[in-house]
Amino acid sequence: MFTSITPEHIKFFKTILPANCFTDEENLLKYSHDETEDISYLPQVVLKPNTSEQISGILRYCNEHKICVTPAGARTGLSGGAIPVHGGVLISMERFNRILDIDEDNFQVTTEPGVITQVLQEAVAEKGLFYPPDPASRGTCFIGGNISENSGGPKAVKYGVTADYVLNLEVVLPTGEIIWTGANVLKNATGYNLTQLIVGSEGTLGIVTKIVLKLITHPTYDMLMLVPFRNAQDACKAVSVILNNGITPSGLEFMERDALIWTQDFLGETNVVIADDHAAHLLIEVDGFDSEKLMDDCSKIMQLVEEFDIDEILFADSRDQKDALWKLRRSVGEAVKANSIYKEEDTVVPRYYLPELLGFVKEIGNRYGFKSVCYGHAGDGNLHINIIRGDMDQDKWDNELPTAIRELFKEVVKLGGTISGEHGIGLVQRPYMDIAFDDKSLELMRMIKKNFDPNGILNPGKIF
Ligand code: LAC
Ligand code: ZN
Repeated sequence: MFTSITPEHIKFFKTILPANCFTDEENLLKYSHDETEDISYLPQVVLKPNTSEQISGILRYCNEHKICVTPAGARTGLSGGAIPVHGGVLISMERFNRILDIDEDNFQVTTEPGVITQVLQEAVAEKGLFYPPDPASRGTCFIGGNISENSGGPKAVKYGVTADYVLNLEVVLPTGEIIWTGANVLKNATGYNLTQLIVGSEGTLGIVTKIVLKLITHPTYDMLMLVPFRNAQDACKAVSVILNNGITPSGLEFMERDALIWTQDFLGETNVVIADDHAAHLLIEVDGFDSEKLMDDCSKIMQLVEEFDIDEILFADSRDQKDALWKLRRSVGEAVKANSIYKEEDTVVPRYYLPELLGFVKEIGNRYGFKSVCYGHAGDGNLHINIIRGDMDQDKWDNELPTAIRELFKEVVKLGGTISGEHGIGLVQRPYMDIAFDDKSLELMRMIKKNFDPNGILNPGKIF
């Protein structure tokens, strides 16, 4: 289907990138995977450009020669978006690592895509500005990858997801042309919204080379508490109760018992005492500019959760303790992975139905015989369901589990939800797209893809 790479192609790539064209085994192996399960496909060559013009030259050539190209960021993805399933060229964006301009007058930042999200956040915070979207992997993931997957993270419940901050993008199209998708403005009713079409398109429509993001004023105070529930569905119910009572936390995270235990073991830290009857915890953060108002919010939250069967609430009383609790939460994914290969399902439902979703996950797990560890951004109705492989045999993993996942996703859609909240479809959720969309919608998406990428060379095997 695609042209296999020959020494002549390599010779061409070396004219563009004499020192950044790699075919050695170590590089091919390193770029054969992201953080998705244990999936790995070798590229034939790894290219590390650092200008839009270089990418343009590479894509124009690959388009002419029908060579497939997979763009990759920091490869922290969980749906296989950066895995070169058809081999070919892998373009790593790691050398696009400069923040180009922080515009304090207009509350905007222009950046290259290979900047680590937390580095960007800290750079703008020095100027009193705030870029809220903070995926759990923010210490390692790239802002470009966040755009490709429309990443969320804990702060989304109050501040929204990556898409809500993207104003304008420079994109190299698969044919080699370079475009800007919008304008550096907060309102834009000019034509179709190409910017938002690129956000979440998982590197299938073009390669993002410059990014203009909206910023807001950095809050000055935050408070954090951890609430242990004796019933996991109660913890899910409390989420809607808090929000329906006029409080919008800046983080409202759910962690099942095993998620916490596994993560404390993984980190070798025991900051939190997990009693035998703790079924799940909510990690609740409020932030803002008025500490008294935040204290009031915390008291109100306490009153509301005390209506449920809870144990003693832990209040983080120092920056160190807050950081330790967030580290615990942010490390759950890694901890699960260290325990076992797992399938990560990134379900999202209207949040009132979260208790029902959790109940269904456990019921279906009992029926099909799999263990799941659940956690996630409860305030958004976004539940990460980690299906643990453990000692499950290959046949069951490959053939029975997809049936169970199909059943799960159908239930999610029945509840008004969808099959990915923030991790994308990539490679691993591709077989389930028909559950989320009807044929006509999928056809429209395929037509969009065809317009951007007539030869289908860019990140093939993803989404559809
Ligand atoms: C998290 C990642 C897996 O929330 O999305 O930890
Ligand atoms: Zn998440």
